[in-house]
Amino acid sequence: MSDPRFEQFLARAIGLNAASIGPSAIERAVAARSKACKLDDIQAYWELLQNSEEETQELIEAVIVPETWFFRDPQAFAALTRLVTRGPLQADASRPIRLLSLPCSSGEEPYTMAMALLDAGLTAAQFRIDAVDLSARSLALAGQGIYGRNSFRGQNLAFRDRYFDATDDGYRLRDTVRGLVQFSQGNIVAPDFYADPASYDFVFCRNLLIYFDAATQKHVVGVIRRLLAPHGVAFVGHSEAGLMGSNGFTSAKIPMAFAFHKESVRPGPAKARPAPPPAEPRPRRAPPPSPTPRPISPAFPRREEKREPAPPNLEELRLLADRGQLQEAARGCEMLIRRDGATPDALALLGLISDASNDLGAAERYYRKALYLDPANAEALGHLALLLKKQGDHSGAKLLDERLRRLDKWRAQ
Ligand SMILES: C[S@@+](CC[C@H](N)C(=O)[O-])C[C@H]1O[C@@H](n2cnc3c(N)ncnc32)[C@H](O)[C@@H]1O
Repeated sequence: MSDPRFEQFLARAIGLNAASIGPSAIERAVAARSKACKLDDIQAYWELLQNSEEETQELIEAVIVPETWFFRDPQAFAALTRLVTRGPLQADASRPIRLLSLPCSSGEEPYTMAMALLDAGLTAAQFRIDAVDLSARSLALAGQGIYGRNSFRGQNLAFRDRYFDATDDGYRLRDTVRGLVQFSQGNIVAPDFYADPASYDFVFCRNLLIYFDAATQKHVVGVIRRLLAPHGVAFVGHSEAGLMGSNGFTSAKIPMAFAFHKESVRPGPAKARPAPPPAEPRPRRAPPPSPTPRPISPAFPRREEKREPAPPNLEELRLLADRGQLQEAARGCEMLIRRDGATPDALALLGLISDASNDLGAAERYYRKALYLDPANAEALGHLALLLKKQGDHSGAKLLDERLRRLDKWRAQ
Protein backbone atom coordinates (compact mmCIF):
# COMPACT_ATOMS: atom_id res chain seq x y z
CA MET A 1 0.00 0.00 0.00
CA SER A 2 1.15 3.54 -0.77
CA ASP A 3 2.67 5.48 2.13
CA PRO A 4 0.36 8.48 2.71
CA ARG A 5 3.31 10.66 3.79
CA PHE A 6 4.61 10.76 0.21
CA GLU A 7 1.18 11.60 -1.18
CA GLN A 8 0.84 14.47 1.30
CA PHE A 9 4.38 15.63 0.60
CA LEU A 10 3.67 15.83 -3.15
CA ALA A 11 0.28 17.47 -2.58
CA ARG A 12 2.00 20.23 -0.56
CA ALA A 13 4.94 20.61 -2.93
CA ILE A 14 3.21 20.65 -6.32
CA GLY A 15 -0.52 20.31 -5.64
CA LEU A 16 -0.62 16.74 -6.96
CA ASN A 17 -3.79 14.84 -6.14
CA ALA A 18 -2.62 11.21 -5.83
CA ALA A 19 -5.97 9.90 -7.08
CA SER A 20 -5.42 11.63 -10.45
CA ILE A 21 -2.47 9.42 -11.34
CA GLY A 22 -3.30 6.52 -9.02
CA PRO A 23 -1.57 6.03 -5.65
CA SER A 24 0.40 3.09 -7.03
CA ALA A 25 2.15 5.49 -9.43
CA ILE A 26 3.52 7.37 -6.40
CA GLU A 27 4.47 4.09 -4.74
CA ARG A 28 6.38 2.99 -7.86
CA ALA A 29 8.12 6.37 -8.14
CA VAL A 30 9.18 6.26 -4.46
CA ALA A 31 10.48 2.69 -4.87
CA ALA A 32 12.43 3.64 -8.03
CA ARG A 33 13.92 6.76 -6.42
CA SER A 34 14.97 4.99 -3.20
CA LYS A 35 16.64 2.31 -5.34
CA ALA A 36 18.41 4.99 -7.40
CA CYS A 37 19.62 6.53 -4.11
CA LYS A 38 20.75 3.06 -2.98
CA LEU A 39 18.40 3.15 0.02
CA ASP A 40 16.48 -0.05 0.76
CA ASP A 41 14.58 1.48 3.62
CA ILE A 42 11.60 3.76 2.86
CA GLN A 43 12.12 5.62 6.15
CA ALA A 44 15.69 6.48 5.10
CA TYR A 45 14.37 7.76 1.76
CA TRP A 46 11.71 9.82 3.54
CA GLU A 47 14.40 11.47 5.67
CA LEU A 48 16.56 12.17 2.63
CA LEU A 49 13.58 13.78 0.92
CA GLN A 50 13.06 16.15 3.87
CA ASN A 51 16.59 17.47 3.55
CA SER A 52 17.29 17.47 -0.16
CA GLU A 53 15.82 19.86 -2.70
CA GLU A 54 17.62 17.93 -5.40
CA GLU A 55 15.90 14.68 -4.43
CA THR A 56 12.55 16.45 -4.14
CA GLN A 57 12.95 17.54 -7.76
CA GLU A 58 13.90 13.98 -8.77
CA LEU A 59 10.77 12.58 -7.14
CA ILE A 60 8.68 15.27 -8.84
CA GLU A 61 10.20 14.36 -12.21
CA ALA A 62 9.24 10.74 -11.53
CA VAL A 63 5.55 11.49 -10.87
CA ILE A 64 4.64 14.25 -13.33
CA VAL A 65 2.81 13.42 -16.55
CA PRO A 66 4.65 15.25 -19.35
CA GLU A 67 2.33 13.95 -22.10
CA THR A 68 1.94 16.55 -24.84
CA TRP A 69 2.15 16.92 -28.63
CA PHE A 70 2.06 19.55 -31.34
CA PHE A 71 -1.37 20.99 -32.22
CA ARG A 72 -3.04 19.10 -29.38
CA ASP A 73 -6.74 20.06 -29.54
CA PRO A 74 -6.17 21.98 -32.79
CA GLN A 75 -9.35 24.06 -32.46
CA ALA A 76 -7.70 25.98 -29.61
CA PHE A 77 -4.96 27.20 -31.95
CA ALA A 78 -7.50 27.94 -34.68
CA ALA A 79 -9.41 30.04 -32.16
CA LEU A 80 -6.21 31.78 -31.04
CA THR A 81 -5.30 32.84 -34.58
CA ARG A 82 -8.85 33.97 -35.31
CA LEU A 83 -8.96 36.07 -32.14
CA VAL A 84 -5.57 37.57 -32.93
CA THR A 85 -6.21 38.34 -36.60
CA ARG A 86 -9.69 39.68 -35.94
CA GLY A 87 -8.33 42.84 -34.34
CA PRO A 88 -6.34 44.15 -31.41
CA LEU A 89 -7.22 42.42 -28.19
CA GLN A 90 -4.72 44.34 -26.10
CA ALA A 91 -5.56 47.90 -25.02
CA ASP A 92 -2.33 49.21 -26.53
CA ALA A 93 -2.33 47.77 -30.04
CA SER A 94 1.26 48.87 -30.62
CA ARG A 95 2.67 46.47 -28.05
CA PRO A 96 3.24 42.80 -28.92
CA ILE A 97 0.55 40.30 -27.98
CA ARG A 98 1.58 38.47 -24.83
CA LEU A 99 1.01 34.74 -24.53
CA LEU A 100 1.78 32.26 -21.76
CA SER A 101 1.94 28.48 -21.95
CA LEU A 102 1.66 27.10 -18.41
CA PRO A 103 2.51 24.25 -18.13
CA CYS A 104 4.52 23.93 -21.33
CA SER A 105 6.07 20.51 -20.67
CA SER A 106 8.66 19.81 -23.41
CA GLY A 107 7.64 22.80 -25.51
CA GLU A 108 5.19 21.39 -28.04
CA GLU A 109 2.37 23.71 -26.89
CA PRO A 110 4.21 27.08 -26.95
CA TYR A 111 6.00 26.19 -30.18
CA THR A 112 2.59 25.34 -31.68
CA MET A 113 1.36 28.80 -30.64
CA ALA A 114 4.34 30.31 -32.45
CA MET A 115 3.80 28.24 -35.62
CA ALA A 116 0.08 29.02 -35.65
CA LEU A 117 0.73 32.76 -35.32
CA LEU A 118 3.41 32.72 -38.03
CA ASP A 119 1.01 30.76 -40.27
CA ALA A 120 -1.61 33.44 -39.63
CA GLY A 121 0.79 36.04 -41.04
CA LEU A 122 2.12 37.62 -37.82
CA THR A 123 5.77 38.61 -37.62
CA ALA A 124 8.01 37.64 -34.71
CA ALA A 125 7.94 41.22 -33.43
CA GLN A 126 4.17 41.15 -33.04
CA PHE A 127 4.01 38.59 -30.23
CA ARG A 128 5.89 37.30 -27.23
CA ILE A 129 5.46 33.79 -25.83
CA ASP A 130 6.52 32.83 -22.32
CA ALA A 131 6.46 29.18 -21.30
CA VAL A 132 6.70 27.78 -17.78
CA ASP A 133 6.88 24.28 -16.33
CA LEU A 134 7.86 22.61 -13.12
CA SER A 135 9.97 19.96 -14.78
CA ALA A 136 13.62 20.80 -15.44
CA ARG A 137 13.88 17.69 -17.59
CA SER A 138 10.99 18.71 -19.84
CA LEU A 139 12.37 22.25 -20.12
CA ALA A 140 15.76 20.89 -21.21
CA LEU A 141 14.02 18.94 -24.01
CA ALA A 142 12.11 22.08 -24.98
CA GLY A 143 15.38 23.99 -25.24
CA GLN A 144 16.90 21.34 -27.52
CA GLY A 145 13.87 21.41 -29.81
CA ILE A 146 14.35 17.89 -31.17
CA TYR A 147 11.22 15.78 -31.25
CA GLY A 148 10.32 12.15 -31.91
CA ARG A 149 7.22 10.59 -33.45
CA ASN A 150 5.13 10.88 -30.29
CA SER A 151 5.12 14.63 -30.55
CA PHE A 152 3.46 14.45 -33.97
CA ARG A 153 0.00 12.93 -33.81
CA GLY A 154 -3.00 13.24 -36.06
CA GLN A 155 -3.08 13.32 -39.81
CA ASN A 156 -2.16 16.90 -40.54
CA LEU A 157 1.58 17.09 -40.29
CA ALA A 158 2.23 19.59 -43.07
CA PHE A 159 3.57 21.98 -40.39
CA ARG A 160 6.44 19.51 -39.80
CA ASP A 161 7.72 20.05 -43.35
CA ARG A 162 7.48 23.80 -42.95
CA TYR A 163 9.16 24.21 -39.57
CA PHE A 164 11.35 21.14 -38.87
CA ASP A 165 14.40 19.45 -40.35
CA ALA A 166 14.68 15.65 -40.19
CA THR A 167 17.85 14.57 -38.37
CA ASP A 168 19.13 11.20 -37.13
CA ASP A 169 17.88 12.09 -33.62
CA GLY A 170 14.42 13.19 -34.66
CA TYR A 171 12.83 16.31 -36.10
CA ARG A 172 14.68 19.49 -35.25
CA LEU A 173 12.62 22.63 -34.90
CA ARG A 174 14.08 25.48 -36.92
CA ASP A 175 15.68 28.35 -34.99
CA THR A 176 13.18 30.79 -36.52
CA VAL A 177 10.53 29.21 -34.26
CA ARG A 178 12.76 28.14 -31.38
CA GLY A 179 13.82 31.71 -30.79
CA LEU A 180 10.23 32.84 -30.32
CA VAL A 181 9.62 31.18 -26.94
CA GLN A 182 11.17 32.15 -23.58
CA PHE A 183 11.19 29.17 -21.21
CA SER A 184 11.48 29.27 -17.43
CA GLN A 185 10.93 26.96 -14.50
CA GLY A 186 8.11 27.63 -12.07
CA ASN A 187 5.63 25.97 -9.75
CA ILE A 188 2.11 27.28 -10.15
CA VAL A 189 1.13 26.42 -6.56
CA ALA A 190 4.15 28.16 -5.00
CA PRO A 191 3.11 31.26 -3.00
CA ASP A 192 5.59 33.48 -4.87
CA PHE A 193 4.61 32.25 -8.34
CA TYR A 194 4.54 35.27 -10.67
CA ALA A 195 4.52 37.67 -7.75
CA ASP A 196 4.97 40.58 -10.18
CA PRO A 197 1.86 41.65 -12.03
CA ALA A 198 1.50 40.05 -15.42
CA SER A 199 -1.09 40.78 -18.01
CA TYR A 200 -1.19 38.14 -20.66
CA ASP A 201 -3.59 38.41 -23.54
CA PHE A 202 -3.71 34.61 -23.76
CA VAL A 203 -2.94 32.00 -21.13
CA PHE A 204 -2.87 28.35 -22.14
CA CYS A 205 -3.24 26.30 -18.97
CA ARG A 206 -4.20 22.98 -20.44
CA ASN A 207 -4.14 19.54 -18.88
CA LEU A 208 -2.85 20.64 -15.49
CA LEU A 209 -5.97 21.31 -13.40
CA ILE A 210 -6.94 17.63 -13.74
CA TYR A 211 -4.02 16.69 -11.50
CA PHE A 212 -5.16 18.86 -8.58
CA ASP A 213 -7.78 18.49 -5.86
CA ALA A 214 -10.76 20.88 -5.76
CA ALA A 215 -9.12 23.43 -3.42
CA THR A 216 -5.93 23.59 -5.50
CA GLN A 217 -7.96 23.83 -8.71
CA LYS A 218 -9.76 26.85 -7.29
CA HIS A 219 -6.46 28.42 -6.26
CA VAL A 220 -4.92 27.78 -9.71
CA VAL A 221 -7.93 29.21 -11.54
CA GLY A 222 -7.35 32.29 -9.36
CA VAL A 223 -3.72 32.40 -10.54
CA ILE A 224 -4.89 32.24 -14.18
CA ARG A 225 -7.27 35.12 -13.46
CA ARG A 226 -4.42 37.15 -11.98
CA LEU A 227 -2.16 36.46 -14.96
CA LEU A 228 -4.73 37.48 -17.56
CA ALA A 229 -5.28 40.99 -18.90
CA PRO A 230 -8.86 42.26 -18.42
CA HIS A 231 -9.97 41.08 -21.85
CA GLY A 232 -7.60 38.14 -21.98
CA VAL A 233 -8.59 34.64 -22.96
CA ALA A 234 -7.67 31.46 -21.08
CA PHE A 235 -7.51 28.07 -22.78
CA VAL A 236 -7.84 24.88 -20.74
CA GLY A 237 -8.01 21.16 -21.52
CA HIS A 238 -11.35 19.69 -22.61
CA SER A 239 -11.99 17.90 -19.32
CA GLU A 240 -11.17 21.12 -17.43
CA ALA A 241 -13.72 23.38 -19.14
CA GLY A 242 -16.40 22.80 -16.47
CA LEU A 243 -14.04 24.06 -13.76
CA MET A 244 -13.62 27.44 -15.41
CA GLY A 245 -17.37 27.99 -15.63
CA SER A 246 -17.83 27.09 -11.97
CA ASN A 247 -15.02 29.48 -10.98
CA GLY A 248 -16.40 32.63 -12.54
CA PHE A 249 -15.02 32.48 -16.09
CA THR A 250 -17.31 32.83 -19.12
CA SER A 251 -17.09 30.58 -22.14
CA ALA A 252 -15.80 32.32 -25.26
CA LYS A 253 -18.30 30.10 -27.10
CA ILE A 254 -15.82 28.76 -29.60
CA PRO A 255 -16.60 25.08 -30.12
CA MET A 256 -13.92 22.74 -28.95
CA ALA A 257 -11.43 25.49 -28.20
CA PHE A 258 -12.18 25.36 -24.43
CA ALA A 259 -11.57 29.10 -24.28
CA PHE A 260 -12.76 31.43 -21.51
CA HIS A 261 -12.93 35.12 -20.73
CA LYS A 262 -12.33 36.24 -17.17
CA GLU A 263 -14.89 38.99 -17.65
CA SER A 264 -18.16 38.51 -19.41
CA VAL A 265 -17.68 40.13 -22.78
CA ARG A 266 -20.77 42.06 -23.75
CA PRO A 267 -21.37 42.87 -27.35
CA GLY A 268 -21.02 46.61 -28.05
CA PRO A 269 -24.01 48.74 -28.99
CA ALA A 270 -25.54 47.62 -32.26
CA LYS A 271 -24.37 49.71 -35.18
CA ALA A 272 -26.04 50.12 -38.51
CA ARG A 273 -24.06 47.98 -40.87
CA PRO A 274 -23.29 48.72 -44.48
CA ALA A 275 -24.15 46.12 -47.05
CA PRO A 276 -22.11 42.94 -46.63
CA PRO A 277 -19.06 42.41 -48.83
CA PRO A 278 -19.82 40.92 -52.20
CA ALA A 279 -20.10 37.19 -51.79
CA GLU A 280 -19.06 34.72 -54.40
CA PRO A 281 -21.95 33.73 -56.65
CA ARG A 282 -24.04 31.28 -54.76
CA PRO A 283 -25.64 28.34 -56.51
CA ARG A 284 -29.35 28.57 -56.29
CA ARG A 285 -30.91 26.54 -53.57
CA ALA A 286 -33.41 23.85 -54.45
CA PRO A 287 -36.91 24.85 -53.36
CA PRO A 288 -37.90 23.30 -50.07
CA PRO A 289 -39.94 20.13 -50.51
CA SER A 290 -43.67 20.77 -50.29
CA PRO A 291 -45.08 19.60 -47.00
CA THR A 292 -46.56 16.14 -47.04
CA PRO A 293 -50.33 16.31 -46.48
CA ARG A 294 -51.36 14.79 -43.23
CA PRO A 295 -54.77 13.37 -42.40
CA ILE A 296 -56.50 15.31 -39.67
CA SER A 297 -57.41 12.16 -37.81
CA PRO A 298 -56.14 8.70 -38.57
CA ALA A 299 -58.55 6.30 -40.21
CA PHE A 300 -57.61 3.66 -37.67
CA PRO A 301 -56.42 4.18 -34.14
CA ARG A 302 -52.62 4.15 -34.38
CA ARG A 303 -50.21 2.63 -31.96
CA GLU A 304 -48.33 5.26 -29.95
CA GLU A 305 -45.53 6.40 -32.28
CA LYS A 306 -42.04 6.20 -30.90
CA ARG A 307 -41.07 9.86 -30.96
CA GLU A 308 -37.48 11.02 -31.11
CA PRO A 309 -36.71 13.04 -27.97
CA ALA A 310 -36.39 16.77 -28.64
CA PRO A 311 -32.76 17.58 -29.55
CA PRO A 312 -30.83 20.05 -27.40
CA ASN A 313 -30.38 23.49 -28.92
CA LEU A 314 -27.23 24.51 -30.77
CA GLU A 315 -25.76 26.29 -27.75
CA GLU A 316 -26.11 23.14 -25.63
CA LEU A 317 -24.58 21.09 -28.43
CA ARG A 318 -21.61 23.45 -28.59
CA LEU A 319 -21.10 22.98 -24.86
CA LEU A 320 -21.28 19.20 -25.27
CA ALA A 321 -18.64 19.41 -28.00
CA ASP A 322 -16.58 21.71 -25.76
CA ARG A 323 -16.60 19.03 -23.11
CA GLY A 324 -15.25 16.54 -25.64
CA GLN A 325 -18.54 14.59 -25.93
CA LEU A 326 -18.18 14.57 -29.68
CA GLN A 327 -20.47 11.66 -30.56
CA GLU A 328 -23.34 13.00 -28.46
CA ALA A 329 -22.87 16.47 -29.96
CA ALA A 330 -22.84 15.05 -33.51
CA ARG A 331 -25.98 12.98 -32.83
CA GLY A 332 -27.71 16.07 -31.44
CA CYS A 333 -26.78 18.14 -34.52
CA GLU A 334 -28.14 15.45 -36.82
CA MET A 335 -31.42 15.34 -34.83
CA LEU A 336 -31.64 19.11 -34.98
CA ILE A 337 -31.13 19.07 -38.75
CA ARG A 338 -33.76 16.33 -39.16
CA ARG A 339 -36.21 18.42 -37.18
CA ASP A 340 -35.52 21.96 -38.38
CA GLY A 341 -33.61 21.46 -41.63
CA ALA A 342 -29.94 22.19 -42.23
CA THR A 343 -28.69 25.54 -40.96
CA PRO A 344 -25.21 26.97 -41.62
CA ASP A 345 -24.40 26.99 -37.89
CA ALA A 346 -25.42 23.36 -37.33
CA LEU A 347 -23.39 22.30 -40.38
CA ALA A 348 -20.36 24.32 -39.26
CA LEU A 349 -20.56 22.67 -35.85
CA LEU A 350 -20.74 19.23 -37.47
CA GLY A 351 -17.68 20.24 -39.48
CA LEU A 352 -15.81 21.11 -36.29
CA ILE A 353 -16.84 17.88 -34.62
CA SER A 354 -15.62 15.86 -37.64
CA ASP A 355 -12.42 17.94 -37.65
CA ALA A 356 -11.83 17.14 -33.98
CA SER A 357 -12.57 13.45 -34.64
CA ASN A 358 -9.95 13.53 -37.43
CA ASP A 359 -12.51 12.81 -40.15
CA LEU A 360 -11.15 15.55 -42.36
CA GLY A 361 -13.08 14.59 -45.49
CA ALA A 362 -16.39 14.90 -43.63
CA ALA A 363 -15.22 18.12 -41.95
CA GLU A 364 -14.49 19.70 -45.33
CA ARG A 365 -17.87 18.59 -46.72
CA TYR A 366 -19.77 20.07 -43.76
CA TYR A 367 -17.87 23.39 -43.89
CA ARG A 368 -18.54 23.67 -47.61
CA LYS A 369 -22.25 22.87 -47.10
CA ALA A 370 -22.42 25.56 -44.42
CA LEU A 371 -20.81 28.06 -46.81
CA TYR A 372 -23.18 27.03 -49.59
CA LEU A 373 -26.07 28.10 -47.37
CA ASP A 374 -24.31 31.13 -45.91
CA PRO A 375 -21.17 32.33 -47.76
CA ALA A 376 -20.45 34.69 -44.84
CA ASN A 377 -20.42 32.04 -42.10
CA ALA A 378 -17.23 33.08 -40.30
CA GLU A 379 -16.87 29.86 -38.35
CA ALA A 380 -16.98 27.67 -41.46
CA LEU A 381 -14.71 30.06 -43.38
CA GLY A 382 -12.07 30.19 -40.65
CA HIS A 383 -12.00 26.48 -39.98
CA LEU A 384 -12.09 25.47 -43.63
CA ALA A 385 -9.17 27.85 -44.30
CA LEU A 386 -7.23 26.17 -41.53
CA LEU A 387 -8.11 22.70 -42.77
CA LEU A 388 -6.97 23.52 -46.32
CA LYS A 389 -3.76 25.04 -44.97
CA LYS A 390 -3.04 21.91 -42.97
CA GLN A 391 -3.66 19.81 -46.07
CA GLY A 392 -1.19 21.90 -48.04
CA ASP A 393 -3.78 23.74 -50.17
CA HIS A 394 -2.33 27.18 -49.49
CA SER A 395 -3.94 29.00 -52.39
CA GLY A 396 -7.41 27.69 -51.39
CA ALA A 397 -6.74 28.71 -47.77
CA LYS A 398 -5.55 32.16 -48.87
CA LEU A 399 -8.77 32.83 -50.76
CA LEU A 400 -10.83 31.91 -47.71
CA ASP A 401 -8.60 34.00 -45.42
CA GLU A 402 -9.16 36.99 -47.68
CA ARG A 403 -12.92 36.45 -47.56
CA LEU A 404 -12.72 36.22 -43.80
CA ARG A 405 -10.68 39.41 -43.54
CA ARG A 406 -13.17 41.27 -45.73
CA LEU A 407 -15.96 39.96 -43.52
CA ASP A 408 -14.20 40.94 -40.27
CA LYS A 409 -13.52 44.43 -41.68
CA TRP A 410 -17.13 44.82 -42.64
CA ARG A 411 -18.28 43.65 -39.22
CA ALA A 412 -15.97 46.11 -37.49
CA GLN A 413 -17.51 49.04 -39.38
C1 LIG B 1 0.14 16.80 -19.32
S1 LIG B 1 1.38 18.04 -19.35
C2 LIG B 1 0.51 19.32 -20.18
C3 LIG B 1 1.34 20.00 -21.22
C4 LIG B 1 0.57 20.92 -22.17
N1 LIG B 1 -0.03 22.03 -21.49
C5 LIG B 1 -0.48 20.16 -22.94
O1 LIG B 1 -1.67 20.31 -22.67
O2 LIG B 1 -0.13 19.38 -23.82
C6 LIG B 1 1.37 18.49 -17.64
C7 LIG B 1 2.61 19.31 -17.25
O3 LIG B 1 2.30 19.96 -16.00
C8 LIG B 1 3.50 20.19 -15.32
N2 LIG B 1 3.17 20.49 -13.91
C9 LIG B 1 2.64 19.66 -12.99
N3 LIG B 1 2.47 20.29 -11.81
C10 LIG B 1 2.89 21.57 -12.01
C11 LIG B 1 2.98 22.70 -11.17
N4 LIG B 1 2.61 22.64 -9.88
N5 LIG B 1 3.47 23.86 -11.69
C12 LIG B 1 3.88 23.93 -12.98
N6 LIG B 1 3.83 22.87 -13.82
C13 LIG B 1 3.34 21.71 -13.35
C14 LIG B 1 4.25 18.89 -15.53
O4 LIG B 1 5.63 19.06 -15.34
C15 LIG B 1 3.87 18.53 -16.98
O5 LIG B 1 4.88 18.94 -17.86
